Amino acid sequence: MSEIPALPPEHPLQTRTAGSPIIRAARGEPVERTPVWFMRQAGRSLPEYRALREGVDMMTACNTTDLIVEITMQPVRRHGVDAAILFSDIVVPLRAAGIDVEIQPGVGPVVADPVTTSDGVTRIGALGDISQIEAAIQMLTRELADKPLIGFCGAPFTLASYLIEGGPSKDHAKTKAFMWSEPAVWHDLLAALSRLCGEFLRAQILAGASAIQVFDSWAGALAKPDYETYVLPHSRALLDSVADLGVPRIHFGVGTGELLTSMAVPECEVVGVDQRVRLADGITRIGPEHSVQGNLDPAALFAGEDVVHSRAAEIVAAGANARGHIFNLGHGVLPPTDPAVLTNLVAFLHEQSDR
Ligand code: CP3
Repeated sequence: MSEIPALPPEHPLQTRTAGSPIIRAARGEPVERTPVWFMRQAGRSLPEYRALREGVDMMTACNTTDLIVEITMQPVRRHGVDAAILFSDIVVPLRAAGIDVEIQPGVGPVVADPVTTSDGVTRIGALGDISQIEAAIQMLTRELADKPLIGFCGAPFTLASYLIEGGPSKDHAKTKAFMWSEPAVWHDLLAALSRLCGEFLRAQILAGASAIQVFDSWAGALAKPDYETYVLPHSRALLDSVADLGVPRIHFGVGTGELLTSMAVPECEVVGVDQRVRLADGITRIGPEHSVQGNLDPAALFAGEDVVHSRAAEIVAAGANARGHIFNLGHGVLPPTDPAVLTNLVAFLHEQSDR
């Protein structure tokens, strides 16, 4: 990894989007209005996405330049959100490192041969060819001009859970048993995942991504002492590995109300808050050193315009007390969401928060 050059601070990829509301809010600089993007804004809520994905499996779509570019742009064109998020998946770098993993429709990532305590870390190879993804990012950043492209990766714990459980899990029992019974192998595995994801993030930023988000979707399954002992050091190492590139880093997890104080590490600029926490309380827990992102309940989008607008307005008002605030849902857009509701919400936010 050391042979990959760092971006010089005046690199055009960073200066071009530096004045955008998302980047400014992430850095705690004043903004004219609250910026907005949505987790899973690209995906099954959009008919143009479903049409494009007809007969193309998810992993193929995530590794095909033209499809990545088109799917990433779809929600930007339709909703006018303030950022694009790269169309990809958290298991894409695992596949690029030689792990046999598929993304099954309606299920999620499925690992053919789950990792055990005895083979542990030896299974994580180096990041292989991701040139289709890098080419897509280069095209996207040209097309997006001064609008940021957000790159992302999974956090080591969430990826480890998929690798150990073999697929989605409600209780993460095998993962926790692995963690507690073989702590040395566990730490090696998480360090290897942190290194792999660090390489993936670095490649995305060097290709043109101007912010990144680390998704620790399952961290909320852990109690705080376990999170701090077994997980957080590896997430910090991952976030720190791109510190030299100078792009804002968003640290997000689901069900992490109890973990927010721990997640607000110096290695990130923004902490994501899910919908289970009142944003005002999240801001208190996260403190004045970080900006926040969130946190409309994705289910509110089914409750009618009045509910959407009043809840969104409350969140914008609460966000004014944070160092900076990026509006988002508390978690991803649910597939049955009416895309017109999202478009309307973006327009409402752009008007309502005009200062
Ligand atoms: O718009 C965006 O946010 C960008 C795209 C994106 C996808 N996955 C595309 C996708 C992002 C950021 C992810 C991250 C991801 N993937 C996470 C972290 C975020 C989170 O939701 O907590 C996780 C846990 C995964 C693993 C994963 N991949 C799951 C749980 C699923 C859903 C399975 C299903 O079919 O319901 C996937 C598949 C997936 N990733 C889809 C999309 C658009 C749906 C696949 C399809 O359209 O066939």
